[in-house]
Amino acid sequence: MTSTLTAPAADLLMVGPLLPELTADLESRYRVHRWWESPDPAALLREHGPAIRGIATSGRFGAPRSLIDALPALEGVFSFGVGYDTIDVAAAQARNVLVTNTPGVLDACVADTALALMLAAPRRLAEADRFVRAGRWPQEGFGLGTRMSGKRCGIVGLGNIGLQIARRAEAFDMPILYTSRKPRADAPARYQYCADVLELAAQSDFLVLAVPGGAATRHLVNAAVLDALGPQGWLINIARGSVVDETALVAALRDGRIAGAGLDVFEHEPATPPALNGMDNVVMLPHIASGTHETRRAMADLMLANLDGWFRDGTTVTRVV
Ligand code: DGY
Repeated sequence: MTSTLTAPAADLLMVGPLLPELTADLESRYRVHRWWESPDPAALLREHGPAIRGIATSGRFGAPRSLIDALPALEGVFSFGVGYDTIDVAAAQARNVLVTNTPGVLDACVADTALALMLAAPRRLAEADRFVRAGRWPQEGFGLGTRMSGKRCGIVGLGNIGLQIARRAEAFDMPILYTSRKPRADAPARYQYCADVLELAAQSDFLVLAVPGGAATRHLVNAAVLDALGPQGWLINIARGSVVDETALVAALRDGRIAGAGLDVFEHEPATPPALNGMDNVVMLPHIASGTHETRRAMADLMLANLDGWFRDGTTVTRVV
């Protein structure tokens, strides 16, 4: 998807660094003010704030109320990413400021990453790689892993990403269970719906998190849920770190109350709990679930389509509010 802008360029505040190609595209069409590089952000706001009509951001950098309220001419917050839990949507709505994100185009890659973690953690793939690189293969045997095929896959949140995870997991002969606010009408009848996450965890071998972040899902996975998952169970998180009580997770892993975890996201990114570094049953990724050339380009194009549409003729493609 490529869009071109014919209306006059607007002033944009870019909150943090985005994909370099996207930044170049933005700078060729808009007057971009680089917030994160400014030696004096308050002075930048004083000088350019009254002209700024759009915020360009991502799930990582978000847009707090303080920033939204500091920009009197603001029309939209345009985010690179599907999750918008770091954007103060209520503050935007109160000002009649629109918010857009980039759903859909990243579902396949995020689901691929979930499956990669579901294989990597129980089959000890990252640990095996470290073993070979350390030159230990000629002297030692590498222990056994745990089979993933055929185990029960419990998905928390059967949205579009959750559904893509389910389809992939079925190719590994995994029965699908899920929980969400209500049963998904178009979900295959063979998918078993569970009333809540506790019941789902108790019935699953893999508990895979695919819900949005934010207040409604904060610490949805707590000590009780981890205990329900049990010593044979694996936690996979490609959603948001905030969905898991990380202190409870570290304790459950340390005490062997769950088998292990595959984590792409953390509560206090980019910080990760130091205790996890010594645990070979945990595979950690630096929030790269959508991190492929193809998907990031598609996300950039969708964000540009939202921006250009809005500033050209007041239209958007994927609007949150
Ligand atoms: C998003 O876009 O919100 C995801 O975190 C991508 O990995």
